[in-house]
Amino acid sequence: MKKIIIAIDGFSSTGKSTLAKQLAKKLHYVYVDTGAMYRAITLFAMRQGFIADDEIDEISLTESLGEIELKFIFNEDLGFAEMFLNDENVEKEIRTMSVSKNVSQVAVLEAVRKKLVSMQQAMGVEKGIVMDGRDIGTVVFPEAELKIFMTASPEKRAVRRYKELLDRGEDVKYVDILENVQKRDFIDSNRAISPLKRADDAIEFDNSDLGLEDQFQRIYEHSLRVI
Ligand code: C5P
Repeated sequence: MKKIIIAIDGFSSTGKSTLAKQLAKKLHYVYVDTGAMYRAITLFAMRQGFIADDEIDEISLTESLGEIELKFIFNEDLGFAEMFLNDENVEKEIRTMSVSKNVSQVAVLEAVRKKLVSMQQAMGVEKGIVMDGRDIGTVVFPEAELKIFMTASPEKRAVRRYKELLDRGEDVKYVDILENVQKRDFIDSNRAISPLKRADDAIEFDNSDLGLEDQFQRIYEHSLRVI
């Protein structure tokens, strides 16, 4: 079997990461969650005081990018890689609502995207990778052998995210999550650099009413056709 690159893009909380993790496990591929990378930089910017009242100090963040070291370290017990920011495990903190509220503004910045896209491209040099994000099939790996684009209604996605955050013990309101999901979709789809859009050759999945198992099976079959 030949090794390929599988790019999974789509709107927030469409279940991309669950699917990508499952697929990577089944194919013995590496899974890379690029959203975690944008989230870790956002956390760094928040801690440094570069983000206040929805405003980002772009110059300070850009100047500090060289100080940020991001690493994925595989956790055997969890079965997936966790995000480390300058050697600190930030896997839980990057998933909080406060990071979700700021991440899309950080992700529009050219210097941030440049740094992360080149790291992501380096991770895919040997192929055998499943990467999820917003611009994987369009910008990071336009030559990926299999591209999936995932959508679902904002309400369905907000319910999923709400349950996830409640399970993690966060005190959140459904309406705030719905608003965050819609706001991120808007910013992600309308930014000047690498906006979220379906690559022409991506297979689209609307999983509003599709169970996880069904969806996985269909995408797995697609991957077997290419491999
Ligand atoms: O995938 P996740 O929801 O964790 O991504 C968080 C945010 O990071 C997205 O809303 C988007 O603003 C940004 N992102 C991006 N490009 C990617 C992955 C994520 O702009 N490839």
